[in-house]
Amino acid sequence: MTSTINASPTIGTSHWYLAPPGARSGIGAPADTAAPVALVAPKRFHPLRGYSTSVELVTRQGDLLLRDAARAAGRPGGGVLHYRVAGGPGPVVVVFDPAHIKTIMTADESIAPSATRQSPLAPIVGSESVLTSVGDRHRQQRALLLPRFHGKAVARYQDSIDRATDAGLAAWPVGKPVALAEVAQRITLDVIMSAIFGLPDPHDTTAAERDMRTAILRFLRLSTTPIATVSQLANARRTEPIGLLKLVMTAVDRTVYRVLAQRRTDGDADTRDDIMSLLLTARDTDGKPLSDTEIRDELIILLLAGHETTANAVAWTFERLTRAPGVYRLARRAARHDDEDYLEALINESMRSRPVVPIVARELKAPFDLGDTRVGPDVVALISILLLHHRDDLYPQPFAFEPTRFLGVRINPYELMPFGGGIRRCLGAPLAMAELRTVVGAILRRVELRTTSAPPEKPLHRNVTMIPGRGGIVVADSIT
Ligand code: HEM
Repeated sequence: MTSTINASPTIGTSHWYLAPPGARSGIGAPADTAAPVALVAPKRFHPLRGYSTSVELVTRQGDLLLRDAARAAGRPGGGVLHYRVAGGPGPVVVVFDPAHIKTIMTADESIAPSATRQSPLAPIVGSESVLTSVGDRHRQQRALLLPRFHGKAVARYQDSIDRATDAGLAAWPVGKPVALAEVAQRITLDVIMSAIFGLPDPHDTTAAERDMRTAILRFLRLSTTPIATVSQLANARRTEPIGLLKLVMTAVDRTVYRVLAQRRTDGDADTRDDIMSLLLTARDTDGKPLSDTEIRDELIILLLAGHETTANAVAWTFERLTRAPGVYRLARRAARHDDEDYLEALINESMRSRPVVPIVARELKAPFDLGDTRVGPDVVALISILLLHHRDDLYPQPFAFEPTRFLGVRINPYELMPFGGGIRRCLGAPLAMAELRTVVGAILRRVELRTTSAPPEKPLHRNVTMIPGRGGIVVADSIT
């Protein structure tokens, strides 16, 4: 049997985000499928190794996975990585082949449900939200919310997106280093607050709503600190928060319940068009309204998932563009000429090279044959969007930032999946895309950014997201 083992790492650095544009990832070499299943049975694990893997997955996920995937490439069973995550889900497999991903994502939910109940978000958003529930409960929650997030509904939010973008650009200081994630976060938080609470202007919010906004921002700021990583590990697999996380979440919850009580007292949910009113008036199949806890869980997930992800996608876009002056020039020209195809390709390339959610997870309740590897039952499959997006066979020179690779191409949903897939695909994807088109387009047209030869920003893993370590620092030379 000839070996196709990829012995030497092709990135040439142990930090994947510093890989030169011309490098290959080494992932995507065809596997030798002639090996019997018995030869590729999951490895035995040293118990202590599980803890270091947990820490590595939280702190340097890209380095760990890209290294291991490149080493395994071409070996029998090398298309699936095996780990044991102590303090987390136990045995896990990491999957990054489009065919394997499709098999899992399209399997019946009874054998491959979402594993978000085990995600670091579970103790934060609670067990009743559309993200953390499964089965009938999830279907009902999704059906309730979907009409507010599909393409046509999103068009109604365009005014608030435009207004928030103008306000965000007006407050941006010229000539000073700025963390773009913070500028964009103000914009996306205004947009989601307006969608949830139906407020035409964020300045019209009540004191209770303003307090909630402040509490959420404080929570997000705290979650970038090193202590938050420790807290994340301490809360792994919990559905109720403990320690520092509990303290912070109690403060956030207090403000959310105050807003809820105020809206119940106002009693105007029937006449309002916002998501909070939708939740207040919703009835289950027995005609029962949602409890305060159920509404709280839903509001928290929509607020959190609904703005931070999008803000960091904006930040990554310009972190990449300011380090690629030629592409930046083309992107500015395209924006000034309303070249929507190029803008779309740019956004896709940004989310390909720096997916803000680098992993989604499914519980495999039955055995699955993934190529020549049999996995499960009772294994968590981590679908690595980051690895998928860096396969040499799908994306030649995967470390280069090259929007034109998406021009005139019909995208395969199992090859580019920044929003996940299947029945759990991101509910807010159309809203996120509308925001990205507007905000990225406006920055390209109206802001002249300084390009830089600074090294790429280190990706920071925060909860389920991968964000630019310094927030996407940029300097505006002028803003019109
Ligand atoms: C660039 C921005 C965003 C990215 C990259 C993103 C990514 C994702 C991903 C990867 C998932 C998991 C999908 C899966 O398991 O297959 C998800 C789920 C979800 N996202 Fe987003 N998201 C973004 C913006 C938004 C926005 C604006 C909202 C608006 C409220 C939102 C709400 C949700 C919700 C509710 C879910 C859970 C869906 C379910 O389990 O049925 N997201 N998102």
